[in-house]
Amino acid sequence: MTDRLERSDGTSRRAVLRTLAGSAAGLLLPAPLFGGQRSVVEPRSVDLELIAAWQPVAVAGQAAQLATYNGQFPGPLLRLREGDHVRLRLINRLRESTNLHLHGLHIPPSVDDPFLMVPPGESVMYEFTLPPGSAGTYWYHPHMHGKVATQLFAGLAGPLIVDGPLDWFTRLRRIADRVVVLKDLSLSGGVPSTHSMFDWMNGKEGDLLLVNGLVAPTLRARRGMLRLRLVNASNARYYNLALEQHHLHLIGTDAGFVGAPVELDSLLLAPGERADVLVRLRDPGSFRLLNLPYNRGGMMMGHGRPTALSLPQAMLTIEADEAGTMALPGRLASVESVVAGVDAPHRRFVLGAAMMGARFYINGRSFDEGRVDVQARRGAVEVWDVENPTAMDHPFHLHVYPFQIAARGGRPEALVAWKDVVNVPARGSVRLTVPLRNFSGRTVYHCHIVEHEDRGMMGQLAVV
Ligand code: C2O
Ligand code: CU
Ligand code: CU
Repeated sequence: MTDRLERSDGTSRRAVLRTLAGSAAGLLLPAPLFGGQRSVVEPRSVDLELIAAWQPVAVAGQAAQLATYNGQFPGPLLRLREGDHVRLRLINRLRESTNLHLHGLHIPPSVDDPFLMVPPGESVMYEFTLPPGSAGTYWYHPHMHGKVATQLFAGLAGPLIVDGPLDWFTRLRRIADRVVVLKDLSLSGGVPSTHSMFDWMNGKEGDLLLVNGLVAPTLRARRGMLRLRLVNASNARYYNLALEQHHLHLIGTDAGFVGAPVELDSLLLAPGERADVLVRLRDPGSFRLLNLPYNRGGMMMGHGRPTALSLPQAMLTIEADEAGTMALPGRLASVESVVAGVDAPHRRFVLGAAMMGARFYINGRSFDEGRVDVQARRGAVEVWDVENPTAMDHPFHLHVYPFQIAARGGRPEALVAWKDVVNVPARGSVRLTVPLRNFSGRTVYHCHIVEHEDRGMMGQLAVV
């Protein structure tokens, strides 16, 4: 049986997703929260293949050579379901080692292993099951320490969606969703430009602001409604998004749905972050999704300024033939609010940087594969304080274990939501509630400005 893959731009591409009919008994799903009926969905066995290779790609009217998955930029959309048993083969046809990280998925650290190396010409199988409750918007990219920034900038990243009961049995089913991969790039001589010392310090930003590999594409809204799955797959660029004359209605964060739609004037997406938003157009017409100025600061070395945006830039245009009349969902999921006990382990992570040699630190230490920085107990709910005394924002990311934001800058966070990346503003701090559930093993936390990660702003967590 073959499933077609729909690209984010609507065209379908060479199928890379093969599903085998589920043989086990149907998976009983919980009753939907609104509309629909209790249903049974067959678990599937899904075989996927990603081939990392340099390929010719047309970008912004230029012929370029990019590092791609299956010849596509961004990589193909992997559309999966809760309960799926996935066998994903990564084939490395690059000239250097790589590996794959399934950013945000709650799967064993031994599978989503950032320490694995796949040499050129070799392949490796990632095999895992998507847990119930994991419906959401994710992505994948290489995670070889020291090589993440150059491989990601060269093109290696793609979106991954997990569908679940809310997508199937509520009115969300009637709203078309589009994946919006925000990924900047700059080319020099038809290949991705190389990193300067300034780029290593500040994170590399490209001058081409691309959406699904295109410059300012147009998306059509059917019946005046659209669901956007926004993925910031850029090395270092922040996007501060707003839709002309409209609000955005946030229905999901990094790792799942929120309790009810949240109306937003603008939405800041740091590198690695995702957001699931509904758009309901008031009138027929064309409306631009703008990238508003946002100053994330910088380590400021040499000339230039990161995010040198002074005017809003149009990322894409939404075109609607009719006004949206369908009501937005009232309630979505019931999101557990995780609370740490009074005796919960309490940890502090202080981010740091040295201009000399562009080195980055957490608690004064650069990443060392041979050193475990945090030893934790499986099942514990921990409190993590992440402090950023530097002059620029850093997006803090933890693998495998989604967390909740308890406070930002000392102020309690109102929204109960699952996250795996949180922006820690310059001279600011965040407090996280981190449940280390279900899996033991060794994994990492790091700054998702991947230049900083490659240059040491990463630590190791061992859950035992
Ligand atoms: Cu998206 Cu450790 O990464
Ligand atoms: Cu990750
Ligand atoms: Cu950083």
